[in-house]
Amino acid sequence: MNKLTSVTNQLHSIADYCRYGATLFNQAELFYGHGSDNAFSDAYTLVMYALSLPAEHDSSLMACRLLESEKEYILALFKRRVEERIPVAYITNITYFSQLPFYVDERVLIPRSPLGELIEKQFSPYISEQKTPKRILDLCTGSGCIAIACASYFAGAEVDAVDLSVDALNVAQINIENHGVSEQVIPIQSDVFSGVEGQSYDLIVTNPPYVDQQDIDTLPAEYHHEPEMGLGCGADGLDIVRKILVQSATHLNDNGLLFCEVGNSEVHVKALYPDVPFTWLTFERGGHGVFMLTKEQLIEFAARFYAALK
Ligand SMILES: C[S@@+](CC[C@H](N)C(=O)[O-])C[C@H]1O[C@@H](n2cnc3c(N)ncnc32)[C@H](O)[C@@H]1O
Repeated sequence: MNKLTSVTNQLHSIADYCRYGATLFNQAELFYGHGSDNAFSDAYTLVMYALSLPAEHDSSLMACRLLESEKEYILALFKRRVEERIPVAYITNITYFSQLPFYVDERVLIPRSPLGELIEKQFSPYISEQKTPKRILDLCTGSGCIAIACASYFAGAEVDAVDLSVDALNVAQINIENHGVSEQVIPIQSDVFSGVEGQSYDLIVTNPPYVDQQDIDTLPAEYHHEPEMGLGCGADGLDIVRKILVQSATHLNDNGLLFCEVGNSEVHVKALYPDVPFTWLTFERGGHGVFMLTKEQLIEFAARFYAALK
């Protein structure tokens, strides 16, 4: 009896396979951080995907027995997760951001920005209900998750979704169509601001590549499935952030705001601009390294931002 048959002879229920997957994943010391933070959650997501069942369901379903073919399919998915170290979202081609579903594949980073929480709160307390943004720029849009979530939480807003990668824009287009927001969200190919010359916005939201070289060199294998240009950005991770800080003021309307994620590179931002009063945000659901600056602050400290350009 081979190992596969031995497993499928001994395990029968949905719960069995969720438990077995979690054990396999723990033993393989997989990395989590692409939409889940533990082995059981990854195993559960793969089992539900394999069975074409929704993630939310009556718990009595867990005791249901599986067909041989279903068991084998689940084990094949577990094998991919372990041997290829591929994040679950790239197997299922779906992930959630700001409580909305997004199609993803290896052309785009798997959405996980803490900015999602801020978007759900409509940027409160930084934006009041009376001053909802009419024009929003999602710089470095990837899957389009930030742009589409902004369009969803600010129903009257127009959103430009820019990225340098045509591959990423093709995925963003899929999501724009899936969410029915083609009238509201416009994908644009652009090297930082080059594709939106002369345009200005009430809000610029950006999760640019910002991982520094030290972190790039030690990233777990799961990250190597993500597009390289979505992660690394020079020795201190700030090559694009430097440009964003110099150019954003020109693209913001009066009273406009810039929200920018820099993750672990927060330490480099603070070292590079010690006297700039960034507002660093906190999040209930976790995450760090997101700052806010007003247009006025971007103008006031423009000389500092220019001086830091390479
Ligand atoms: C960290 S990913 C963020 C994707 C998405 N906004 C999210 O939160 O999941 C950064 C994105 O920036 C894009 N990018 C890299 N260099 C760029 C540049 N010079 N101009 C515009 N976009 C760029 C990458 O293609 C990638 O899609």
